[in-house]
Amino acid sequence: MTVVGLLVAAGSGERLGAGRPKAFAECAGRPLLEWSLDALSAVCDRVVVAVPPALEGEDPGWVAGAACRSGSVRAALSAAPEAVLAVVHDAARPLLTPGLVESCLAALEEGWDGAVAAAPLTDTLKETRPGETRVVRTLQRRGLWAVQTPQVFRADVLRAALEVDEETLAGASDDASLVEAAGGAVRVVEAPAENLKVTSRLDLRVAEALLRERKGGAEAGSPSSPAAAARA
Ligand code: CTP
Ligand code: MG
Repeated sequence: MTVVGLLVAAGSGERLGAGRPKAFAECAGRPLLEWSLDALSAVCDRVVVAVPPALEGEDPGWVAGAACRSGSVRAALSAAPEAVLAVVHDAARPLLTPGLVESCLAALEEGWDGAVAAAPLTDTLKETRPGETRVVRTLQRRGLWAVQTPQVFRADVLRAALEVDEETLAGASDDASLVEAAGGAVRVVEAPAENLKVTSRLDLRVAEALLRERKGGAEAGSPSSPAAAARA
């Protein structure tokens, strides 16, 4: 079964403010996207990377992303007609491991349409009305998960789920929600705590420390793709 990785890296990274698209910000000695590209490449037959449109084609695996995240997933999937299984991952999560991808893929073998990395919530959740500070209720935390990537799917199910209008696509906070809306059965796979997402400068510092710890000091990565290195 052909497994294709879809690495979404087309966001601008406004909240990080690195002066370049977030996926190309330096993290522990190499562009952020290269860390998760390595982990995906260890498991997938091929990886398609959705990049900002100006970088399309600079590397053979790079396709133009879209204005919204799920649009970028759709663009990457369109470039992988051979995919039987699709592994969607955010370049913003550089601590991905091949083991986590494999755990999600193993879950699909049980017959699910999708399997998503997730962490059980640890904070207490309170709800206010939008724009207000008064607490209207405290939510039951049991059974709630913070969902991450990787998210793996049967590719035909994901293709069909992404065939929605632009507004629905832009409103989707993840791809699994589109699969669920189309009637697909999705399960969570508990992820290790370190599979964090880089949104802010602080996240980048934490990710960098963890990656250096994982790889060991100065060896912590050298650019593996000439095109990506050129952009670093
Ligand atoms: N992404 C994408 N295409 C978009 C928007 C986001 O491929 N149109 C990707 C990002 O590159 C990132 C992942 O989706 O790897 C998660 O998005 P997010 O963390 O929000 O990244 P950015 O959109 O780049 O950051 P910001 O929202 O701060 O601008
Ligand atoms: Mg964003």
